[in-house]
Amino acid sequence: VKSIAVLTSGGDSQGMNAAVRSVVRSALFHGIEVYGVQRGYQGLLNNDLRPMDLRSVGDIIQRGGTILQTARCKEFVTPEGQQKGADVLRERGIDGLVVIGGDGSYQGANKLSKLGIKTMGLPGTIDNDIPFTDYTIGFDTAVSIVVDAINKLRDTMTSHERSSVVEVMGRYCGDIALYAGLASGAETILVPEVAFDLDVVSRRMKENFQSGKRHSIIIVAEGAGSGEDIAAGITQRNGIEARVTVLGHIQRGGCPTHNDRILASRLGDFAVRRLMEGDSGKGCGIINGELVVTDIDLVVNTKKPFNMEMYNLASRLSQ
Ligand code: F6P
Repeated sequence: VKSIAVLTSGGDSQGMNAAVRSVVRSALFHGIEVYGVQRGYQGLLNNDLRPMDLRSVGDIIQRGGTILQTARCKEFVTPEGQQKGADVLRERGIDGLVVIGGDGSYQGANKLSKLGIKTMGLPGTIDNDIPFTDYTIGFDTAVSIVVDAINKLRDTMTSHERSSVVEVMGRYCGDIALYAGLASGAETILVPEVAFDLDVVSRRMKENFQSGKRHSIIIVAEGAGSGEDIAAGITQRNGIEARVTVLGHIQRGGCPTHNDRILASRLGDFAVRRLMEGDSGKGCGIINGELVVTDIDLVVNTKKPFNMEMYNLASRLSQ
């Protein structure tokens, strides 16, 4: 491998910059030329690539967002778009591509790999919805943002003996709600993976208030319903007013935690080394602290299992 490119795609996540830095500096360390693709697959189709040097990734390890910017590109979903992307890389003599992103970005990497481009995927999404890795880059930071927000909400909810519904991100995956819910002692966690009954949620809230609890926090992943609908449904059933907070894109910004920076740094370097060893069409991940690769085809065709053990624990502890 003489020359590689790196891009970030889909929704951004904290730690993407640390991953870009790692890919660029690891490649340069091994004498490989690196190009940064601006705005994800859209930039690839527009031939928007620039050579990266050591200094072009300076002062970014601590920054949220992505210096390469990102996009959700419709054209790249078509076979013609994918072929065009592969042609751009070939014409520039680029042997390998590191794609940092979530599920949609992995689908694109999978297609490019089938068109003969050596590709490596790095899991960059706050959702933690990529299988064959315990964690994705950005998830740890997003969870700590949610926990911090709930700490603040809890103060004022307790003063007023109120109930609060907090809507967090996660269209298909409830991991942000699950981890933040367990870490912040939420009374109820609602996720797309587990069916729930608002009658039970409402009854539980009422009983808890009657038994002397002074606040109630319900955390809902956006894929399980909107905060507004859940709050309205609860109030209708138990007569207790629930205040709604939608955390939205706040969860995707800000300084990455040390966990995300370290994960990104390890994975970026790993992806480059695997490309050098001739590997291609793989998603990189971390399982029980070990760096692993999995066929990207398998990654995109597998649903990440939901951690029911943790879900049940959160439920037992939030009486
Ligand atoms: O995939 C990351 C994510 O933040 C999801 O949690 C959320 O549903 C989605 O992106 C929001 O996308 P957008 O920023 O395009 O509205």
